[in-house]
Amino acid sequence: MKLKMIKKINIGIAGFGTVGQGFFNQINKFHKDVNVLQIAVKNLTKKRKINFKKIKLTSKANELAENPEIHVVVECIGGSKDPAYALVKNALNNKKHVITANKALLAIHGNELIKVAEANNVTINYEAAIAGGVPIVKAVRENLRHNNIVKIYGILNGTCNYILTKMEQEGKNFASALKDAQKLGYAELDPAFDIKGVDAAHKITLLSSLAFNVPIKFSSTYIEGIDKIELDDFSFAKEFGYKIKLLGIAEKKGSFYEQRVHPCLVKEDSEIAKVENELNAVVVIDEMVGKSVFIGPGAGAKPTGAAITADLIDLMRNNISLPLGGSIMETVKLKNLNILDSSFAYYLKIIVKDEVGVMRKITNILARNKISIDQQKQVHSSKKGYASIVIITHNIKEKIAIKAIKEINNMKRINNKVKFIRIEG
Ligand code: HSE
Repeated sequence: MKLKMIKKINIGIAGFGTVGQGFFNQINKFHKDVNVLQIAVKNLTKKRKINFKKIKLTSKANELAENPEIHVVVECIGGSKDPAYALVKNALNNKKHVITANKALLAIHGNELIKVAEANNVTINYEAAIAGGVPIVKAVRENLRHNNIVKIYGILNGTCNYILTKMEQEGKNFASALKDAQKLGYAELDPAFDIKGVDAAHKITLLSSLAFNVPIKFSSTYIEGIDKIELDDFSFAKEFGYKIKLLGIAEKKGSFYEQRVHPCLVKEDSEIAKVENELNAVVVIDEMVGKSVFIGPGAGAKPTGAAITADLIDLMRNNISLPLGGSIMETVKLKNLNILDSSFAYYLKIIVKDEVGVMRKITNILARNKISIDQQKQVHSSKKGYASIVIITHNIKEKIAIKAIKEINNMKRINNKVKFIRIEG
């Protein structure tokens, strides 16, 4: 069979930071059949080491969408607003395929942009937007989504995984681990997006739509970051056989589905617990294959550049997919399950005055709320006269756990608010 290959393709790249440069370098090195016609940069006068030869630089990203010689626009600007939004929309309206690494843009405006793409018979490829170099979009979009996926979850933010690994293994403090991740080019322009869980939430929102054929609904995703995790949480978790990971989780439960991002205690012998540093992992559970696990670098110039390159080569081979696998007009509506109605086992850390009756008061509150204790431990706190109590509970509805935690927080002899981390799996 003869494939309809495009021999030479003209592209424009918008945004020339870590991702844009990673892609450009790979194209230059291995893919002479790709002709970079124009690059949009923020600052035209900035000194750069790269020799752009005949490539036209512009500071107006939208010129790429208007340039009739450009077949494909590669958007590496980032952010859900202009110039990225206007560029992508105009390029699609001008019947150009778009490749983007921009999870924020798609999580916020994906439904609209995909409708524009479908109406213009072009597509949006976004492998680089989720889990960097891990080909999870293609695997779900073109394969696993046909098997009735019931759950998709994983480590979706390289910066957070890097920080958690360094805190756990080297006892590094949060701020210095974050600085290292920034130096390595893993963090978003605004690293609050990483550590507060927003970046992972953008990604799990997109994976949820790919997996469950639902419209993209970022506002339904529950989000909690890693900024409240303390060094002693790692050692307590370890004593009970757990590690701490930031997970993005999308799960179908009957006619409901949930999308959430939060730190989790995961069993230390699970696949996900062994994924360290900037590596990402995605686990897909479906009715036919069962469990599939994908692990690889989730951030950085080369892996992200490689994902964009793979998307481009698909277009050159005329292997063109709908952005969500099926048409955006045929998505189904599932009801969103509020996290308060989900059930979890919990890790509770409570710092209390080391006095008679304190423990009894806590266990009374738990018992009154029908929260059963699975394991517990008490050690001296670093604060003199105080004790740290760690309790692992059995499964309980979140709204009941929150009510009990509020009651404990109202006790007189509590030092800090109760710290809780959900246990996954
Ligand atoms: N800031 C992101 C991360 C980059 O750390 O995973 C890749 O999306």
